[in-house]
Amino acid sequence: MFAGSISDLQQRLAAQLYVADRGLAVSLFLAMRLRRPLLLEGEAGVGKTALAGAVAAVLGTDLIRLQCYDGLDVSHAVYEWDYARQLLELRILEAADALDRDTARRELYSEAFLIKRPLLQAIDPQRNRPAVLLIDEIDRADDEFEGYLLELLAEFQITIPELGTVRAVEPPLVVLTSNRTREVHDALKRRCLYQWIDYPALERELAIVAARLPHASVRLAAQVAAVVRELRGMELYKVPGVSETLDWVAALAALETEALDADTVDETLGVVLKTKEDLELLRARGIAGVVARAQESTNART
Ligand SMILES: Nc1ncnc2c1ncn2[C@@H]1O[C@H](COP(=O)(O)OP(=O)(O)OP(=O)(O)O)[C@@H](O)[C@H]1O
Ligand SMILES: [Mg+2]
Repeated sequence: MFAGSISDLQQRLAAQLYVADRGLAVSLFLAMRLRRPLLLEGEAGVGKTALAGAVAAVLGTDLIRLQCYDGLDVSHAVYEWDYARQLLELRILEAADALDRDTARRELYSEAFLIKRPLLQAIDPQRNRPAVLLIDEIDRADDEFEGYLLELLAEFQITIPELGTVRAVEPPLVVLTSNRTREVHDALKRRCLYQWIDYPALERELAIVAARLPHASVRLAAQVAAVVRELRGMELYKVPGVSETLDWVAALAALETEALDADTVDETLGVVLKTKEDLELLRARGIAGVVARAQESTNART
């Protein structure tokens, strides 16, 4: 699946604008080598979903994404029969007087009338190279679905009563993500390799900004990252992730801001903090103080 070393993998991800630290690269490398699913947990906006896309690009393969939600069921995750088309076909067969029962059944429950949802697409035996299957936000799906998934990940096969068993020839690389709104069950965890993705250290966050926003000012990016770090240290409802850092740098660049001072922070705070309570908390603490502390830490580094 991937022939190079761990640092090759890091470089190839970087070429896809994804900055992975060594720990994450090792886990991903092992997931590929051992053909085990990789479960990524971490706070919002730390790059869990983006990793799957970057890996698919590195491998030159398809990314198949299943977004989980409460009430997700087999018909949305695996397959569904296309009733409308089956009905239409039935009418046509009737009109042509070509209807004997066995033929009708065979015709109507053939692959042509099957709607393949992400999990079935990922194990499609016609696939000639493994896809990357992203099962995003598994913590939002219910227990029943998790149980179903466990079976699928064990065998990479699905039985469709009318058609038979579909089994992957090239099993996908599976990446699961969770924001930990609830614990993923032990049985599923046991099957996976696990990686916690933390907020990046300052250097890494700057590397991410440099990769994603190559035209942004390095100085401004450093100031933004330092303020975001201060914010992450406060007891906020919604702690800003890497996505907020990127958005903020982009917003400030759009405003042609050259340096981040307290007034600019105040004006553009809605890019980073997304709840009324968080905005109030920061304003009560004093934006100027936060900016000053961020400034000190930036100065200390240079
Ligand atoms: N290590 C990284 N390298 C490059 N870009 C990153 C990295 N981490 C995060 N990003 C960028 O930050 C943004 C948010 O990432 P992503 O959506 O993958 O986060 P997430 O962990 O899935 O968040 P959520 O839990 O909210 O779904 C994306 O635009 C992504 O490109
Ligand atoms: Mg995500």
